[in-house]
This record gives sequence, structure tokens and C-alpha cells, in this order.
Amino acid sequence: MALLLIGEPRDAEGWRREMEALVPGIDFRVWPEVGRAEDIAMVMTWKAPPGELRRYPNLGCICVLGHGVDHMLPGSELPDGVPVVRLVDESMTRQMSAYVLAAVLRHHRKMADYGRLQRARRWRELDVPDPAETRVGILGLGALGGDAARKLRALGFEVAGWSRTPKDIDGVETCAGRDALEPFLGGCDIVVCMLPLTPETRDILDAGAFRAMKKGAYLVNPARGHHVVEDDLLAALDSGQLSGACLDVFRAEPLPRGHPFWRHPKVTITPHAASLTLPRGAAPQVAENYRRVHDGRPLLNLVDRERGY
Ligand code: NAP
Ligand code: GLV
Repeated sequence: MALLLIGEPRDAEGWRREMEALVPGIDFRVWPEVGRAEDIAMVMTWKAPPGELRRYPNLGCICVLGHGVDHMLPGSELPDGVPVVRLVDESMTRQMSAYVLAAVLRHHRKMADYGRLQRARRWRELDVPDPAETRVGILGLGALGGDAARKLRALGFEVAGWSRTPKDIDGVETCAGRDALEPFLGGCDIVVCMLPLTPETRDILDAGAFRAMKKGAYLVNPARGHHVVEDDLLAALDSGQLSGACLDVFRAEPLPRGHPFWRHPKVTITPHAASLTLPRGAAPQVAENYRRVHDGRPLLNLVDRERGY
């Protein structure tokens, strides 16, 4: 029973080292050196070439090497009936919370404005509210949103969260369901999108959502580009309805060179780098799922293909 990695050649040796250390004697193969297709019991991949995953008749698990699986689910890429698992990774969670905290603090502490003042050699104090008077709202309270909410709370911010089903997080005011979205957005000074991309959440941050936000609210989106209707965001920034946005993800990636976000004075851009999959951190759960495929036990971090995450 072989484990097949379909991925960037530069990552292959790192994964091989980790998997061979965790599962001595493992039959670890790297695409396209597949050997007999019948031997492959599990595939680990971020994204496979079209049709590739249908070539393995004895596949017992597809492990997506990230938290989000939206790019894998649509269409007919996946063989029917093969369980899909994702990563729920402590290292990626720490990385993402650090990104969210950096974006929130940079905005809250007006670091970009201080940068402009420094370049003009101007000694001027800016008004910065107490974190306790700044409400940060997190859309999505799963592995990543939940951790960011707790860490923002620990910094003293007022934190609120919105999810599909009700959640209970110490010190965080939570609400759930579509009807709660607009009132939720209206109460927040900073909105962080930490949702998975599904048919329900696609385009969720549109003109209506921006109108529902407080005037001058700030947006942080390290989730997926298709959560945001980009023209509506540009209009909300240009009218002053939003004061700025920190964006890690975009509808087209890499962001095209001519895109207005690049030069927009209110937009901060990072290149889909908020949280990266590192073999050292992620390998133990991949190894555990490989053992579970072998033993026929229930898999960890199973994706609900109907629900879309
Ligand atoms: P997760 O554990 O599945 O949590 C998703 C959260 O969103 C859950 O609280 C869920 O509600 C909520 N949600 C889903 N659909 C909803 C809806 N229709 N209405 C309201 N709430 C909804 O996901 P995660 O591991 O935190 O990851 C979130 C996303 O981050 C990923 O899907 C990926 O797109 C993105 N990501 C980006 C990077 C990067 O580098 N930029 C890295 C990793 C991940 P319930 O709790 O009720 O189910
Ligand atoms: C990265 O974007 C991930 O979903 O893991």
C-alpha cells in the first residue's frame, strides 16, 4: 500500500524525510514516478493535474495539503466515494493568527500613518483608541478563526464572531446564521474574513456587506479571494465607507500586474502567504491518516463534500 505525493518537486524530499521517519518502511512515491496505479492507497496533494485522481482504483484517502479545500471540490476532479481529508495544523494556525494580529495591530496602531509622518520628519501624536473600545469581528470561528479570536481577546480587543452554527468561546460574543450577518458587520470596527469558500460564502463581502459595516471600518481577508467582490471593495474604499483593507488572497492569483489593488493607497497586499504548509508540522497527521487507511479506522479531519468544507 503506497502513499503518493503529487506536488512541487522542491517539496518532495522534505515530505519523504518526514514520512519515512514517522512510518518506517513506508512505500512513499512521488508523482510522476507512480509505478503500478493499483498500489496507491493514499494521495497527498495541494492540487492534482486534471483527471489524475481518477487513475487509482484502490484509493482510500485523498489528503489535501492545506486548510482550505475549495479548489479541489468543484467539478468532477474527485473520484466518487473516496474520502477527502484536509490539514488542521497547529503551525498553520499559529502562522495565520500572527498574520491576523499583525494586520489588526498595524491598522489599530496607525503604523502606516506614522510611517508617512516619519518620512516627512513630523513629530505628531495620533489618536489611537484603547483596544477594549475596538471591536474586531471574525467571520468563521473554525480552526483558524477561533484561534485568532482567542489571541485578539488576549490582547484586550473586544472580539465578536460569526459562524454557521452557534459557538461558545470564552470572552467572545458569538452569533450564527445568515440573518445575523448584517447586524454583526454593523457592530465591528475591524472585520476579519476567516471563512472557507463554499457556494454560501462566495461573494459574501459585496456592496451590501460593505454598506452594512460601520463607516471607516477596516477589512482583513486572508481566507479566499472569491469571498470579496473586488469592484465593490474598491468602491467602498474610494467612497470612504471602508478605511482600508489588508488582503492576502485574490480572485486571480498571482494578482495581475494591472490590478488597481497594487497601487491603491488604502490596500495592503501579501501574496497568499499568510499561512504556509510546512512538512515538519503537518506530517504527523498525514502519517496518522495513512495508518488509519491501512487499518480501516475513521480518518482525521474529514471534509464534508456536500457542505464544501
Ligand atoms: P474551518 O475550521 O472549516 O472553519 C470554518 C468556519 O467558517 C467555521 O466556524 C464555520 O462554521 C464557518 N462557516 C462555514 N460556512 C459558513 C457560512 N455559510 N456561514 C457562516 N459561517 C460559516 O476552516 P479553517 O481551518 O479555520 O480555515 C478557514 C479558511 O482559511 C480556509 O478554508 C482557507 O480558505 C483559508 N486559509 C487561508 C490561508 C492563507 O495562507 N491565506 C491558509 C490557510 C487557510 P461552523 O463552525 O458552524 O461549521
Ligand atoms: C491555504 O490557502 C490553505 O488553505 O491551506
